[in-house]
Amino acid sequence: MGSDGMDIGFLGLGIMGIAMARNLLKKGFNVTVWNRSPGKCEELAKEGASIGSSPADVVKKCSITIAMLADPSVAISVALGPGGVVEGITPGKGYVDMSTVDSATSSQIAKAIEAKGGDFLEAPVSGSKQPAEAGTLIILAAGSESLFAKVKPAFDAMGKKSFFLNDVGSGAKMKLVVNMIMGSMMTAFSEGLALADKAGLSQQTLLEVLELGAIGNPMFKLKGPSMISGKCPTAFPLKHQQKDMRLALALGDEVGQSMPVAAAANEIYKKARSLGLGEQDFSSVHQALTQEAANASDSAKAAA
Ligand SMILES: NC(=O)c1ccc[n+]([C@@H]2O[C@H](COP(=O)([O-])OP(=O)(O)OC[C@H]3O[C@@H](n4cnc5c(N)ncnc54)[C@H](OP(=O)(O)O)[C@@H]3O)[C@@H](O)[C@H]2O)c1
Repeated sequence: MGSDGMDIGFLGLGIMGIAMARNLLKKGFNVTVWNRSPGKCEELAKEGASIGSSPADVVKKCSITIAMLADPSVAISVALGPGGVVEGITPGKGYVDMSTVDSATSSQIAKAIEAKGGDFLEAPVSGSKQPAEAGTLIILAAGSESLFAKVKPAFDAMGKKSFFLNDVGSGAKMKLVVNMIMGSMMTAFSEGLALADKAGLSQQTLLEVLELGAIGNPMFKLKGPSMISGKCPTAFPLKHQQKDMRLALALGDEVGQSMPVAAAANEIYKKARSLGLGEQDFSSVHQALTQEAANASDSAKAAA
């Protein structure tokens, strides 16, 4: 199904949002954008987007508005704050929040949208900067099924597969489970790289060995070389990975699931944030482990 000139609003032009909105423009949607820092809107305006003066203004101009925002507090302030999404909602309008948040945040936003007669869908995504640019995200939607059907052509422009997971909260939870697994895998991988190096092994050879065996995977393949070189271009900010570990652990508390591996991984991401790595790619969590080792060996030398 094509865009049929559908009007879509887009709020939040960060690493993911700008690429997703650009794909909508490329597929012929009429896109109206808003971002806290206006410079990014100007960039898309050159490619044919219109600019809204506030989230409410965008919602008033479009039948469906999509958001891709940093975290739960930002998702709530953009939806419910002054000049926010809810102010622009009238019966029949749709709001699709694709940010990674917890299910309570999603439900709070859903209630406020529905109270004004609008439809709500949460639709967090699996896939990072490159799939966002290529339009190959995996979309984990839940909420209004009729809005899912209406927005499906836009999802098809941004993703390779869209799941409808029923009630609001299921999409958020599925996304948190996926990112909890990814975050734990990344810390195990980082420890392995650090251990190999300390043990006098070639990290490059380790990558080759991993790639050939059953635990080879696209993430190790993509991130491994840049982790070894210490230059990790930011695709997924580490502060967001730590937010997802924190939210997944809270979900574990809520349902009584023990998560010792994720809890330990979360501590490493927290450490990385305290070392100033929050804006770096999440794979730079590796540096938290190697920096810690470097500091320990410095203090051992100082004590000797
Ligand atoms: N990057 C990935 O690989 C990836 C993959 C899947 C899911 N996600 C999730 O997708 C969401 C966006 O990720 P991203 O990587 O695009 O993040 P990002 O580059 O940090 O962008 C965050 C967006 O939120 C906006 N924002 C931040 N604080 C705000 C505030 N106080 N008020 C209004 N807007 C605010 C930013 O506006 P400014 O431009 O003004 O800062 C920007 O548009 C996050 O929930 C993340 O966990 C990311």
